[in-house]
Formats: sequence, structure tokens, C-alpha cells
Amino acid sequence: DWKLTNYIDKTVAEIKEKVGDQKVILGLSGGVDSSVAAVLIHKAIGNQLQCIFVDTGLLRKDEAEKVMKNYGEHFHLNIKLIDAKERFMAKLKGVSDPEEKRKIIGNEFVVVFDEESHKIEGAKFLAQGTIYPDVIESQSVKGPSAVIKSHHNVGGLPEEMDFELLEPLRELFKDEVRKVGEELGIPHHLVHRHPFPGPGLGIRILGDIDEEKVKILQEADDIFIEELYKNNLYEKVSQAFVVLLPVKSVGVMGDERTYEYTAVVRSANTTDFMTATFSKFPWEFLENISNRIINEVKGINRIAYDISSKPPATIEWE
Ligand code: XMP
Repeated sequence: DWKLTNYIDKTVAEIKEKVGDQKVILGLSGGVDSSVAAVLIHKAIGNQLQCIFVDTGLLRKDEAEKVMKNYGEHFHLNIKLIDAKERFMAKLKGVSDPEEKRKIIGNEFVVVFDEESHKIEGAKFLAQGTIYPDVIESQSVKGPSAVIKSHHNVGGLPEEMDFELLEPLRELFKDEVRKVGEELGIPHHLVHRHPFPGPGLGIRILGDIDEEKVKILQEADDIFIEELYKNNLYEKVSQAFVVLLPVKSVGVMGDERTYEYTAVVRSANTTDFMTATFSKFPWEFLENISNRIINEVKGINRIAYDISSKPPATIEWE
């Protein structure tokens, strides 16, 4: 596609010109926008780009390893992996209010990112995967925008204001970002990932959070996502995930009575994330998801499927 190749060539030249021999920092989230921005900037300035990936402990199963492999090894991006799992867990201990959890996660993210970015000597630019819809709706807290940006929106003005901003995707719509990503060689499945909220699994574990619940939810969610891909359904829905309820119910396994958590499978179809309908999956697909999660994930003995539309429900449960 000549238009995309033109866009890439033009943007690479602009980045080179603007950055010169300075260093650029970028918060890599594993999402589409920050990943495409990172690979594009890396194409322009190579190792002058230093990415920071913060593992909050609230990410999807094996997310940190996958990002290091997909972008560190495969694209040779410089990525500093920050293991902040314990810090986030300590701050969240005993907290069950959704907005309070959001605030804590957002604030802690800014603190960790700020700390790490100032350890990188001589960095002059802060790159972000801001895309055109983010620019229009820049006052909105929600929305499937760059994780860094939404964290900042939650946490207030970032201290990184002493960096100059670099936003090479500012003029692009989501589908254009995906095309640029593919043109840059990022695998199709990575540029077509669903959006993932900044607070991550922190708002998909209802009520208070602990490591055991995170592990249970990661396993269940991973099975659902794997089956969506296997059945060619992943790209037919806009966002799909599992929610862990703080509710235990009675079940039976073999000849043992069980008393374990209930999980909810959620999948939404939407174009703008302002309104959405639940995905009308075949019963057999849902049956298989339920069987697999209950059989394979210790700690869950019951699955419900969320059949609510937005509005009046929201896509997330918190
Ligand atoms: P709701 O649940 O409001 O979600 O229907 C609409 C879209 O926004 C995402 N979302 C968030 N994204 N920080 C984010 O970065 C948040 O706090 C947040 N809350 C919701 C949600 O995943 C969906 O794509």
C-alpha cells in the first residue's frame, strides 16, 4: 500500500529530524498503539529508543514474557522490564471500591513510570501511542486508548512534563494504526488485539484483590481467549474477557462437594465502546468454555455468561 509506505517513510524522517541524537522513552503496554508507536520509532532511531514495560501484576497471563519475546527478541527493541507486582499488590491490599482501585493503580503506575524514566540518563523525549480519536476525546478517562495516557488521565498531570512529547500516531485512526503495524511487520494477531483497560485485572476481580485471585482469573481468561482464536471468533468480537466474582457457590466434582468462585464470561460487540451488545455465541462454544474453565482452573466451579447490553450495563464490571 503506497499510502502507508509513504506515511511510514515520512514519519520516520520526521522522527529522525526531531530527535537527532537524543534519547526517547516509551511506556510499552503490550497494546496495539504503544507497540506500533515503538516499532515505528525504533525504525527511525534504533537503540536511542528505550522502552519501559511495567508489570503491575494485573496483566493477562504471561503478558510480560510475551512482550519481551515479541518486541524485545523479535523486533530488538530495548525494553526495561519493571517488576512492580509487589508494590501494586501492597497498595491494593483490602481495597474493594472500584474507583478507589482505579485511582490507586493509576497513581502507582505514574509513580513507578516516573521513577524509571528519570533513571534513564539524558532522555529528552517521551513517546506515546496517542491516536487521532484520543486527540479528539482527550478529556475522556475511559476508552480503549494508550494505557499510559489513560493512566495519566486517572492520575492527574504527569511529572514527565519535562520531557518533550513524541506522538507519531496522532493523525491515525485505529484501523490505520493496525495497517501501519502490519506494514512494519508486526504479526496480524498482535495488531488486532482487543483493548485492555489501564487498571487491568484490578477491575475484573470484583472486590478486593489478592495474588490467588489474579492467578485464577489469568488462567480462566487465557482459556477463553485461546478458544476464541481456535474457533475464529476473536476478531468477530470487540472485547472479550473473564470476570471473577467474590461469590462462592456449591458444586460437585467426582464425589466431592466443592465450594468455589463463580466467574463470568463477557464478550461485547461495539464500534465505539459507548454502546455495545453481548456477543451471540453458539451454545456449543459457550458450553466448551464453561467445561474447560471449570475442569482446568482450580478455584472456579461455576460459569455465567453476561447477556447485558451497554447501556444500561457497562462492558467492564467495575
Ligand atoms: P465500559 O466498562 O465503561 O468500558 O463500558 C468501555 C471501554 O473502556 C475501557 N475501560 C477503561 N480503559 N481505563 C482504561 O484505560 C479504565 O479505567 C477503563 N475502564 C473501562 C473498557 O475496557 C472498554 O474498552
